[in-house]
Amino acid sequence: MSSDAHSNVQRRKLIEVSIPLQKVNEESAREKSIRHGHPSTLHLWWARRPLAAARAVLFSQLVDDPASRPDLYPTEAEQIAERKRLFELIERLVVWENSNDEQLLAEAHRKIMESTDGNPPPILDPFAGGGTIPLEAQRLGLEAHASDLNPVAVLINKALIEIPPKFAGQPPVWPGAADETIQDWPRATGLAEDVRRYGQWMRDEAQKRIGHLYPKAPLPDGTEATVIAWIWARTVTCPNPECRIAMPLVRSWWLGKKKGKEAYVVPVIEGKTVRYEIGHDPTKETDGTVGRTGATCIRCGTAVELKYIRSEGRAGRMGEQLMATVAEGDRRRVYLAPASGFHR
Ligand SMILES: C[S@@+](CC[C@H](N)C(=O)[O-])C[C@H]1O[C@@H](n2cnc3c(N)ncnc32)[C@H](O)[C@@H]1O
Ligand SMILES: [Zn+2]
Repeated sequence: MSSDAHSNVQRRKLIEVSIPLQKVNEESAREKSIRHGHPSTLHLWWARRPLAAARAVLFSQLVDDPASRPDLYPTEAEQIAERKRLFELIERLVVWENSNDEQLLAEAHRKIMESTDGNPPPILDPFAGGGTIPLEAQRLGLEAHASDLNPVAVLINKALIEIPPKFAGQPPVWPGAADETIQDWPRATGLAEDVRRYGQWMRDEAQKRIGHLYPKAPLPDGTEATVIAWIWARTVTCPNPECRIAMPLVRSWWLGKKKGKEAYVVPVIEGKTVRYEIGHDPTKETDGTVGRTGATCIRCGTAVELKYIRSEGRAGRMGEQLMATVAEGDRRRVYLAPASGFHR
């Protein structure tokens, strides 16, 4: 082993000494509320880690603590000054708005090169999930590799890390898109333009072909709103021979518990049919009709075992009833009772 390589092994990395944790934490927390251009908007990933933390950790794992580099920073004063500079660099690096600041990233890359004798290690994240670590490794100018056993995670990583660089600097291919605005297409902006154009085209085509399956909801004021969800209840026939209604199997009647906007389904029994209304009383104690052990008929109170429900299901005798629709109101959700006769 050469003495150079040996001294490399001995060097302490910045992360072993200190990093500006408070700023890293603040920026990591702030990232959660960023809704535009953040990878989290590409696809929901359940265990995504903050970019700011990954960026800071990768950087400070690769950069030497200045005290380990007496060749570059011989006095303690110089070491302290350099550590302060590195802290300031990290504090700028972790700010989301600086993510594409090429000068800043180049400065960080230079520091990494200085600490790795111009030969930084490739970064491999075998459990890459939403791709935070390989993305940040790539941003810092490192060779990045990712894998995951979940194919969704693999697709996210391909879309985030592998594919964009292949189209770097290229204009969009959507007919005419590149001519409409005369500009160059730095980084993945050309690809992004195509994703927007083809994405819109796919939405329009889907709307044309299956849009009729998603009717708008009529609001009480006569206008129409986009439906977010149709809330259905499964039903089985009540085994009580005196009753025999299609009894709804509902775990909870609650639709929303947001303070001031509480809403729940109210089943109204009319003869042998059930109709649904919406209630808003926040103090209402309301539970569903089905639990771990069985269900209760809302009309006659008969307790029904899960065994019966399962066998009705297997026999193809389960029904469903629309209980409510959730629609997009003016920046709030609107809960609507189904129009009468909407049973199947
Ligand atoms: C905590 S998540 C990673 C989160 C990631 N750092 C991010 O920021 O999104 C852990 C990941 O490990 C993956 N995983 C679990 N067991 C694995 C295995 N044996 N091989 C490969 N990936 C695995 C999971 O699918 C999951 O995506
Ligand atoms: Zn009954």
